[in-house]
Amino acid sequence: MTNAKIKWVALVCCAALTGACDDEDSIGGGGDSSAMTDGGPDSGGGPGGPPPEPGDGDGDGDGDGESDSGDGDGDGDSGDGDSDSHSPIELPDSLYNYANPDLPAHFRTAAVEALDNTPNNNPVTDAGATLGRVLFYDTALSQNETISCASCHEQSTGFSDTLDLSEGFEGGLTGRNSMGLSNSRYYAPGHFFWDERAATLEEQVLMPIQDSVEMGLTLEELVARVSERGYYGPLFADAFGDEQVTSDRISRALAQFVRAMVSYQSRFDQGLEQAGDVLAPFANFSDVENQGKALFLGGQARCGVCHLVNAPPQPGQPPALNNQAIFMFDRPSNNGLDANTSDDEGVGAVTGNPQQSGQFKIPSLRNITLTGPYMHDGRFETLAEVLDHYNTGIENHPNLDPVLRGPDNQPVQLNLDPGQLAAIEAFLGTLTDDALLTDPKFSDPFVG
Ligand code: HEC
Ligand code: HEC
Repeated sequence: MTNAKIKWVALVCCAALTGACDDEDSIGGGGDSSAMTDGGPDSGGGPGGPPPEPGDGDGDGDGDGESDSGDGDGDGDSGDGDSDSHSPIELPDSLYNYANPDLPAHFRTAAVEALDNTPNNNPVTDAGATLGRVLFYDTALSQNETISCASCHEQSTGFSDTLDLSEGFEGGLTGRNSMGLSNSRYYAPGHFFWDERAATLEEQVLMPIQDSVEMGLTLEELVARVSERGYYGPLFADAFGDEQVTSDRISRALAQFVRAMVSYQSRFDQGLEQAGDVLAPFANFSDVENQGKALFLGGQARCGVCHLVNAPPQPGQPPALNNQAIFMFDRPSNNGLDANTSDDEGVGAVTGNPQQSGQFKIPSLRNITLTGPYMHDGRFETLAEVLDHYNTGIENHPNLDPVLRGPDNQPVQLNLDPGQLAAIEAFLGTLTDDALLTDPKFSDPFVG
């Protein structure tokens, strides 16, 4: 790995993706809470977005005052549900810490913080995310009470599932492959789903509940369902100041829980903390993993251009890899799965922009070993198949990302040998974060 190669990557990145060099205005995500209730597109917000609305105007508490007074592992008590001796949920006596994870230095850079899509009016609080956790695991959120969010977003598999297409409450299949949720909060445009049709996470989390295949409730039915469950009253009071159940509050709490799913404790993170620089060999990696890392970041395999957001190069400055933490690019792309995408035009079908036809959101590669099958339609069962695609199978879609074209404008042949492909796969394995996947604060709170 040489600096020259990194420079090449950064330059290609900048030249290839129109506007990549100067488009800084989308950071911070959309923060207008109206999007949660009217479902309309919301591209506003950002750092100067709307002011906080504590408790949506009906109280002042957002739960902050009760945040994390202890170590949060006093599991074993029915906690907030203790007014009901038959409470089906088990929560710790003192709230888990969701609001202030102990992030390593590479997450605390300005470049990474700028990718955070948390809106000003819905910061993660310990009480809000606790409510979100219960909602996330509650089958009451589906028509026939068989499916929860966690049915398709399992903690043990990076909050994804192992099916090509997921099964909804009546066994119907979703149109696309379930997405892993690690580090969703660091997608700067703040848009969600493979085709980015949800403008904010607050908007997204209500969509599966209303989807006729996935969970099948109307918002009115949702509010009635949640209101009739006795264990929710104290949780809403802790999170929002009083017990009133609204779909807006449900959306905020679910979004807080999803934003709390930050993956920062993988072997990659440990190695980077020790080495201080992503380009240096990591002491805790095998030689093969270090070789894979260099290939991933370098010019021959090109993965890092789209899967680790690189800072745009400044004129006259050496290229800086300001972000060394977030393994997704902050805009959708086409990676040449098919020459013709009329089956599913992805982002283009949502925006109507023909230049975005066949583009899809680039998911985080955190916990990627566990989130298969891969791609928006789950077409690849294994990472080896994914790598074969990039090595020899890229198709010439009109909107194929220029990063994956050669000098002749044809789809690139990466010419990686089997050892190199295996090394990249080994490196991807270092992004598995067992601490996140087993942390009780993200586990199912329902007992029995
Ligand atoms: C029946 C399976 C199923 C259920 C239930 C389900 N999801 Fe999903 N989820 C999916 C699929 C499939 C996608 C990708 C769909 C698409 O892009 O069209 C997805 C995408 C997402 C995304 C987008 C991630 C990203 O990076 O853009 C989020 C966030 C999410 N789901 C959260 C939730 C929450 C919260 C719930 C519960 C309220 C939930 N899901 C319920 C299957 C499911
Ligand atoms: C031009 C940008 C680009 C480059 C370069 C690139 N990818 Fe991707 N990658 C994407 C896009 C876009 C998707 C989602 C495509 C889809 O599903 O339609 C994706 C999806 C993936 C997925 C599946 C993610 C999931 O959750 O299903 C993996 C794994 C992956 N890429 C690995 C790699 C590796 C390894 C390399 C280097 C050999 C690489 N990518 C190079 C853009 C890129």
